[in-house]
Amino acid sequence: MSAFCNETLRIHPVAMLTFTRLVQEPVELLGQSLEPGTRVGGCIYLLHHREDLYPNSNQFRPERFLERQYSQFEFMPFGGGARRCIGDALAMFEMKLVMATIISQYEMKLAAANEKPQRRGVTLAPANGVKMIITGKRLRQKAPMATV
Ligand code: HEM
Repeated sequence: MSAFCNETLRIHPVAMLTFTRLVQEPVELLGQSLEPGTRVGGCIYLLHHREDLYPNSNQFRPERFLERQYSQFEFMPFGGGARRCIGDALAMFEMKLVMATIISQYEMKLAAANEKPQRRGVTLAPANGVKMIITGKRLRQKAPMATV
């Protein structure tokens, strides 16, 4: 489930950009000299689509997160450093809970192929929602009685 959620956040990062950082003293970054007062922002979307890190980056393939351990500089749906998202653990927990609840009860398929995401302000979201067709209902087993 973690690999599935990571791949979802990689391919269509909800936040495409980090907040900007203000350079406070002269610094060199990837061969660029940055002067104090310069604003620098990370592009999460471009990072997550680097072919050297994510071959066939437009392909949804959760297995990549099982085959390789990505560093905090290679995968950053929640930004990084001191101003990293404070809601990251809650967001991941919510995603897993919602997915587990739905897929443990229903079998579904996409109503339309190739749903394209759309920029909404600073976030990326499905252009028209994600319409699904319920193709079956899973039989739920009753939870065993708790023993004291
Ligand atoms: C999938 C869900 C979410 C994503 C992808 C996301 C992503 C991000 C990103 C990329 C940043 C900027 C980090 C940086 O500049 O390094 C951020 C900041 C922040 N996020 Fe989230 N976030 C999510 C959910 C949440 C939730 C659930 C909360 C609160 C409960 C939250 C609260 C915040 C706050 C307060 C900041 C600003 C942190 C600061 O400036 O110190 N986020 N988030």
